[in-house]
This record gives sequence, structure tokens and C-alpha cells, in this order.
Amino acid sequence: MTKLSWISEEIQALKDAGRYVPIRALQSSQGAWVTIEGKKVLNLCSNNYLGYANHPEVKKAAVDAIERLGVGAGAVRSIAGTNELHLRLEEKVAKFKHMGACLTFQGGLLANSGTLPVLVGKDDIVFSEELNHASIIDGVRLSSAKRAVYKHLDTADLREQLVQHRKEGKRALIVTDGVFSMDGDIAPLPEIAELGTEFDAMVYVDDAHGEGVLGDHGRGIVDHFHLTGKVDVEMGTFSKAIGSMGGFVAGTSELVDLLKQRARPFLFSSALNPGDAAAVLKSIELMEKDDSPIKKLWENSATLKDELRKAGFDTGNSKTPITPVMTKDEKKTVELSRMLYEQEKILASPIVYPTVAQGTARIRLMPSAVHSRDDIMFAVDAFKRSGSRLGMV
Ligand SMILES: Cc1ncc(COP(=O)(O)O)c(C=O)c1O
Repeated sequence: MTKLSWISEEIQALKDAGRYVPIRALQSSQGAWVTIEGKKVLNLCSNNYLGYANHPEVKKAAVDAIERLGVGAGAVRSIAGTNELHLRLEEKVAKFKHMGACLTFQGGLLANSGTLPVLVGKDDIVFSEELNHASIIDGVRLSSAKRAVYKHLDTADLREQLVQHRKEGKRALIVTDGVFSMDGDIAPLPEIAELGTEFDAMVYVDDAHGEGVLGDHGRGIVDHFHLTGKVDVEMGTFSKAIGSMGGFVAGTSELVDLLKQRARPFLFSSALNPGDAAAVLKSIELMEKDDSPIKKLWENSATLKDELRKAGFDTGNSKTPITPVMTKDEKKTVELSRMLYEQEKILASPIVYPTVAQGTARIRLMPSAVHSRDDIMFAVDAFKRSGSRLGMV
């Protein structure tokens, strides 16, 4: 026994419980097909919805920015790390989102965990959706605000919680994922926005899986529901449809001003690299110019869902391209994923407890605009073969 032997015990416990996640390294760029362990496999796991992670114009924009500005931002934003590229990017995102202003962060996780503690504190209360992303949960914890968790997509329960607990906080905030990343269903944002007005609670939406997917030219969930001006804070990430790295918060210019004074990832962590900022700017330009990749993404996801359902698979309640194949049994789910990878050359990760509730295990498929119809049918055929071998269909 050493003072560090608890670490190997913890790892062993994770392995014994079947919750140890092995991590595979890619030897290629992101795309419809990727190379892993020297083998080309169909990639149905990444959030590269529009293919911008490897788009020639996006790559060129990043390379040009690196040539001009170097690889690192050099400092935190408030000291010497703000580049004119950051400012251009923030202006671009605010316009794209039809919001007053925007502040970029080094990632979506940091945008959430850095912003929520600025909006609420120990005298306040947060009404949080039960399936919210971990970074929202972290942000709420860091804020020390009281917390009331409401049931998934259930605005009657949210109303009930507001009636019961609103008075416990000086300020109140309702926070929800826009698109839920494990299920692909969509928050009832119009009703949530109305409840925010009725109960004097700020409304904050995490649009990580809505950007590039929902709304006019991928403007996201607020645009999708025509709620411009009715949602106080839109948070997003540049790491999914936008294809690069970073996160942002959009809201009023006063909110952004305050975040610059208080948000800890802004004040205590170095800025987004110039290459990433330039790549994001280019991706948004591409989205504004041409929405055909978004149409292709939706076409692929409709084909994938229809064909899987026809084959007897349950694809849950998804309303977006995120396609969960509800396999439920944890061991069978892990086995199906293994068979798909080893026998069928398909990368399709199992999602099991504690990422999702026990008994709701699934394989989550992420189609993209860069998959061809043949790629989608390749996956469907493989699911049929492997699913029938395991007695699932
Ligand atoms: C809903 C949601 N919010 C926030 C994040 C974090 O974004 P990022 O990867 O940019 O840190 C993710 C990514 O996993 C997400 O799915």
C-alpha cells in the first residue's frame, strides 16, 4: 500500500463495474471515415455536423491566421491576450445570433461554468432541467445558488417549481440545454421563455447542439422558435457544427461587459488561439453563405432514422440529427458497439450509466453532412446484421 494505491483501486472498480471507457486514438482528420489502429472505419460518433472540422476554406483561414498572428494568444484576455480577431469574431457571432453582444471563451464547458456564477450567487435560485449538460451542473454548483431541478421537457413541473421556490431567490434563472445531447430531443423554449417573464426569472439556453443544425442557416434554437429578444442568454460552442474549438455567451452588451470583469475563465485563463478564432469566423461565414450542408445533414439523419426504425430498432424521441439507438441493456449495448467496430468497421460508441440513467443504454449515432447516402446505408446494414446476431431485432 502506498499513499497513491487508491488510484489503482478506483480504476479497477470502474473496470469491474463495466464503466471504464477505453480511449481510441485517431490517425486521421475528422470526417465520414476515420483511421483508427491503422483501420478505416465509418465515423458515427463525432459532432462535426457540417464537416467544417476538415473543410479546406476553414483550414486555410486557420493557417493564414497562424502565419500572421502565431499559434498562441499569449496571455489572458484582460492582460494582453485580446486580439482584434477575437473582437471581430465576437461581433460576428452576436450578429449571427441576433443578440446585442457576445463574449468568447476557450470552450463551451468554460462558457457555462464561467458565466453561470456571474449571473447568480448564494442569494439566488436556479431552475435547472434534469438532463442538463455537466458543464451547466458545474456552473450552478460554482455559483452557490439554490437549485431546483425540474423534470425533463416538463413545463408543468417547471411552473410548479417556480410557484413553490421562486421566492427563495432574489434573482432567478431558468437554465436548459436547447437540444439534449444524449436523446436529440428539444427543450420547449417558447413555454420556458413565457415562464421566465411570468416569474421574473432570467432564461439561459445552452445551444451546443442547436448551432449549425436548427434555425435559419443554423442560427440555433432561439431562431428556430422565433424567440429573438425573448431569451436572455444564449451559450454555444465552436467545437461541434462550427468544427473548431471554443465557446461563447451572447446576450446584452451590459452582460458581456460584466462577464469581462467577473467571469473566471475570461480573467484567469489564456484566450482562444488565433487559428481557432479565424477558423470559427470562416465557418460562420460559410454557414451564412450556404445552408446546403445543413439540408444534407437533415436528409442523412432522416434516412438513418427511417431505415433503422424499419429494421426494428427504437430510435427514441429524437427531433434532431442525434440518433440514439435504444438498446437499453448495458452489456448488450457494449457488445453491439464492439461487434460494429471489429466486424463491421463502424465507430459507434455505447452510452451507458452514469452518462444516461440505468436501463436506458444506447448507441448514439451522429450523422453529418459529409456522410453519403451509401455511408448511411452501410451503417444500417451493419446494424441489421449485428442486431439480429444479438437477438435485438
Ligand atoms: C450541451 C453541451 N454543452 C456544453 C458542451 C461543452 O462544449 P465544449 O466541448 O466546447 O467544451 C457540450 C459538449 O460536450 C455539450 O454537449
